[in-house]
Amino acid sequence: MTLRAVVRGVGHYLPERVVPNSEFESMIDTSDEWIRSRSGIERRHFVAEGQTTSDLGTRAAQAALAQAGLSAEDVDALIVATSTADLTFPSAATMIQARLGMTKGFAFDVQAVCAGFVFALANANALIVSGQAKRVLVIGAETFSRLMDWTDRGTCVLFGDGAGALVLEAQDGAGTAADRGILSTDLNSDGRQRDILYVDGGVSTGKTGHLRMQGKEVFRHAVEKLAETAHTALEKAGLTSEDVDWIVPHQANIRIIEGTAKRMQVPMDRVVVTVQDHGNTSAASIPLALSVGVERGQIKQGDLIVTEAIGGGLAWGSVVLRW
Ligand code: UT7
Repeated sequence: MTLRAVVRGVGHYLPERVVPNSEFESMIDTSDEWIRSRSGIERRHFVAEGQTTSDLGTRAAQAALAQAGLSAEDVDALIVATSTADLTFPSAATMIQARLGMTKGFAFDVQAVCAGFVFALANANALIVSGQAKRVLVIGAETFSRLMDWTDRGTCVLFGDGAGALVLEAQDGAGTAADRGILSTDLNSDGRQRDILYVDGGVSTGKTGHLRMQGKEVFRHAVEKLAETAHTALEKAGLTSEDVDWIVPHQANIRIIEGTAKRMQVPMDRVVVTVQDHGNTSAASIPLALSVGVERGQIKQGDLIVTEAIGGGLAWGSVVLRW
């Protein structure tokens, strides 16, 4: 018998305000056509004034718990992947813990920027397979609209706000790749690449700061590293691209998503794509795509899923799981 971290529920929440590309045309020198053709993005959601990352994360967690038929008291750990926690501290996770009415267990944030959800899933898996937790809520929640420089057309049109959540539960498996649950993980980072994607603010500066990105450089790393980490994770599970039912990638740019699928030799009709509706929601993009993929009827129990993401750090990785 092998302990597996199996998905018991999934859910998401998107703030009400939908911003189409056309709204940027009156603000900066850009066009709907440029944004669509260079990124695949058509619209994104932005939070209202006063609405925070923990608000979004709480709503997504409630949706995932409802789908699982569980309450917050049934969960013993809560991990939030975010780079946009409401405050410097406490963590968004403990804020969400309180809002959910979860009075036992523990909660903490994971900060690996756009790769955050993959890192959080790998941590949740480690807690479950080592017997430290039976049920873990894993949430990706972000308000990247708060990090935008609205005069920088190279970044402000690309990002959006949102949250998604999974409930993972310890279940016995046979120890083969036919098991449901997380089958393998692969995590990487390279701190030397700090300057190509970062926020020019934080505790040491006295301001929140704005996201700064050398888009072309990040793009180059993404196409190369995402297929590589996905292959490594599949290999660790004793699987190949041919076994993949769905790639559920980080949703940054349709050209990166297509490039990675091509390198993995997986056709695009086996890729869950939400970038057109959400933009880049950083650590929220994968759980959002998983939740939407289930809602659309694409992802079904027993499907083999590969998630992959890259972001600031650089940090990147992949998780292979059977739904
Ligand atoms: O989630 C974390 C990881 N992030 C990513 O994965 C993002 C990776 N990078 C990208 O997705 C792409 O590099 C971008 C979408 C950011 C940019 O696409 P690109 O094809 O690499 O364009 P570029 O940055 O080379 O810019 C091409 C041109 C430039 O004009 P010139 O210098 O050729 O005259 C830019 O100034 O497009 C211009 N440009 C724009 N034009 C209209 C940049 N942003 C805009 C804009 N509207 N919003």
